[in-house]
Amino acid sequence: MPYPVGVFDSGIGGVSILLEIRKLLNHENIMYFADSFWCPYGTKSVEQIRGRTLKITEFFASQKVKAVVVACNTACSAGLDLVRINNQDIPIIGVEPAVKPAHDITRNGRIGVLSTNLTLQGQKFSILVEKFGNGVEIFTQPAPGLADLVDQGKKDSPETLDMLNRFLQPLLAREIDTLVLGCTHYPFLKDAIQKICGKDIVILDTGLAVAKQTERVLRYRNILGSREEEGTVSFYTSGEASSVKEVLETIWPESVGSVTRVDI
Ligand code: DGL
Repeated sequence: MPYPVGVFDSGIGGVSILLEIRKLLNHENIMYFADSFWCPYGTKSVEQIRGRTLKITEFFASQKVKAVVVACNTACSAGLDLVRINNQDIPIIGVEPAVKPAHDITRNGRIGVLSTNLTLQGQKFSILVEKFGNGVEIFTQPAPGLADLVDQGKKDSPETLDMLNRFLQPLLAREIDTLVLGCTHYPFLKDAIQKICGKDIVILDTGLAVAKQTERVLRYRNILGSREEEGTVSFYTSGEASSVKEVLETIWPESVGSVTRVDI
């Protein structure tokens, strides 16, 4: 049995990345871990998230994964460096808000970033802004509560649309032309966001870029799966398996199969 790639997030948000990985690397076996018991990460302390990130990576290591994708901006902000230091023999692929691509494509130089508080307050984000903020204005908007609603399967609910509207209006008032979705839960709201923003605002997420980076890393290390057969995707969670499965079934285009609860 070929070694799998481990992908995780605080909940089901990282499935927005998993969808792209599955398209690009469909011969890989993938384990997806939704840390639903601890969702949302955005309101936890940096220490708590670091602890979770290390625990989940430890679980993946015990399953002999050949690489780990941290499909969560908040976890990467809080703990990516630490996870890399602690797991030097496993390649760790992270995510970050698409500020660089936004800088490259904005026409009026006005960029909005919607993300969790923790990501926006982190040092990694300040460095991104310092690096790619030249000649553009970056307006940030924390969105507490939004990832939770997506995680609970309420992405199309009036409550979610109200909340989205509330968070997007301040960015629209700044006349942004490019919006960065700085949380992996938000791509599941892309249609609703586009509707509120109008068709002229370009909305960026990182799914495809992370999938391509994962392929590059596996190729570079010579550990790409054999192309002969299709890989499998299996789901794990720290939360309640049946409710996670229910939500997964609304966003995962294949059969979800069983969701295994892991007590870590
Ligand atoms: N999906 C996550 C992110 O990209 C975390 C959201 C949360 O748990 O607060 O930041």
